[in-house]
Amino acid sequence: MSKTVLVTGGAGFIGSHTVVELLERNYKVIIVDNFSNSKESVIDRIKQITYKDFLLYKLNMLDKVAFSKVFIENKIDSVIHFAGLKAVGESVEKPLLYYRNNIDMTLNLIELMEEFEINNLVFSSSATVYGVDNKPPFREDMSLSATSPYGATKLMIERMLNDIQNAYPEFNIALLRYFNPVGAHKSGIIGEDPEGIPNNLMPYIAQVGSGVRQRLSVFGGDYETDDGTGVRDYIHVMDLAIGHILALEKLQNEKIGCRAYNLGAGKGFSVLEVIKSYEKALGKEISYEIVERRSGDIAKMFADVSKAKEELGFETKKTLDNMCQDVVKWQNFTKR
Ligand code: UD1
Repeated sequence: MSKTVLVTGGAGFIGSHTVVELLERNYKVIIVDNFSNSKESVIDRIKQITYKDFLLYKLNMLDKVAFSKVFIENKIDSVIHFAGLKAVGESVEKPLLYYRNNIDMTLNLIELMEEFEINNLVFSSSATVYGVDNKPPFREDMSLSATSPYGATKLMIERMLNDIQNAYPEFNIALLRYFNPVGAHKSGIIGEDPEGIPNNLMPYIAQVGSGVRQRLSVFGGDYETDDGTGVRDYIHVMDLAIGHILALEKLQNEKIGCRAYNLGAGKGFSVLEVIKSYEKALGKEISYEIVERRSGDIAKMFADVSKAKEELGFETKKTLDNMCQDVVKWQNFTKR
C-alpha cells in the first residue's frame, strides 16, 4: 500500500518540486496551501509532469477547524511541513505577522498530528538558524541564533519540535536545514516565481536575464572571499526534493527522535561565479554593478553535509551550471 503524505505549502517553490518527486515514487499526496505566495496554476503543471492525481485543500492552516477536515477525511501517514512566510526583509517590518502565522500554523499542525496519531514529520528549516557567528562549514551541532524575525520563527519551531518530541516520544522528526535552493524542474514548467521584486540572488538574475529588470546590484565587493563577493551553498531544488524523500524514508524505517540535517551541496560559489554560470546558460551578459553590502549578510556560508550523507544517503547530483540551465528554461516558459 502506498503511503499518504500531507504536504503543507505544497504549491510553493520547494513544496511543488518535492510533490513531483513524491508522486514519481508513487506516494499518495495531499497538498494544503492557501496560495498566499504561490499560483494555483502550479497544481495543473504538477499533474502535467507526473500524469498523477492528488488531493488539494485550499485553506489557511491558522483556521484550525477548516484544517482539521483534512485529518478527518484522510488517513495520513507522514507530514512534510513547508508552509510559512519567508521574506527576511518583510519579517523585520511585520514581525507580528510572521510570529503569528509561522508559529500558530505549526502549533495547529502538531496538535492535529497528536490528535490523529500521526508521528512522522519533516520540517522545512533553514541554514539561517546558524546565525552570523559560526565559521563555515556549518555543522548541525553548532550554536544557533536568529538575525531576523523570519529566522527566529525557524529557530523557535525547531526548539518547539525538540521539546514536543521529548515529551511525546512517539513523534519522529527530521529538521531539514536548507542552504540556498535554486533551479527548477527539468521540464521547465515549474520553478521559483516570487511576487514583486525578488529578494534572493537567483530569481533576481533570472529577471535581469529575461529583461524584466535592468541591472543586478551585487551586495558588497569587499568581503574576505576570493573575488570579494558573498559565497553561498547553492543546491538544486530537485536534489533538495530528493533529500525530503530520503528523510521521509528514514522516519518510516527508524525512530530518530528529533534530528537536524543540513541539505546543501557542501561547497560555496560567489555571486560573480553565479553570474558567470547564468551568462553561459543564457548565452548573453547579465548587467550588474557592485554596491554596498546588504545589512545582515555574511561573507561565506556553506554546509558540512556529512551527517545527511551518512545517515540519509544524501548527495547532490546537479552542478551550478545545471541549476542555471534549468532556471533559464523556466524563464523561457514563463515569458511565453
Ligand atoms: C537569504 C536570507 C536567508 C534565507 C535565504 C533563503 C537574508 C539576509 N538572508 O539568504 O535568511 O534563509 O535567503 O533562500 O536575506 N545578492 C546580491 N544581490 C541580490 C541578491 C543577493 O548580491 O540582489 C547576494 C547576497 O549578498 C548573497 C548572495 O547573493 O551573498 C545570496 O543571497 P540570497 O539569495 O539573498 O541568499 P542568502 O543571503 O544566503
